[in-house]
Amino acid sequence: MSILKIAKIGHPCLRRPNRALTVAELRKEPVQRFIDDMLETMRDGEGIGLAAPQVHENLQLVVIELSKIENSEKKEIPPLVLANPSFSFLAEERVEGWEGCLSIDNLRGRVPRSKRVAVKYLDRKGEARTLDTQTFLAVVLQHELDHLAGKLYPDRMTDMTKLAHLAEFRRFVLAETPDETE
Ligand code: NI
Repeated sequence: MSILKIAKIGHPCLRRPNRALTVAELRKEPVQRFIDDMLETMRDGEGIGLAAPQVHENLQLVVIELSKIENSEKKEIPPLVLANPSFSFLAEERVEGWEGCLSIDNLRGRVPRSKRVAVKYLDRKGEARTLDTQTFLAVVLQHELDHLAGKLYPDRMTDMTKLAHLAEFRRFVLAETPDETE
């Protein structure tokens, strides 16, 4: 496995269309190895999600690992691998939370998202799956699927005064609302 270079905001690959994978392609070695590299790159960057365009591949592929956050019992939660994901449901009810991105260093922004989503996707074996959630995962899914549509979280912000350097976010936001995640 290898750690891939992460494209930062301003790199055109973050804004390009991302093509779907065929099931046959998904099951083959180059894509399976790429998925493992994405997982290693996400862990190395201490991220909870990574989309293929963030590592310069314009494919409909996302990895998510929330075990660091939603794991009070220290259970082993396998990472999620989503190929060709699409929303089948997006709740009108909104939640606001602070987001960061491996492509946007040292910033956090407050972003409104749907409270609950359902997503259809192929897992890394090519099996069709659905995921329906209203946990923190719902927000992460919206952030990562946005990457596949060429969008970054600042595009979704409705109040740009809620964009903060990580150091100030820790000082002024986390100190007052310790439930927020970094
Ligand atoms: Ni991101």
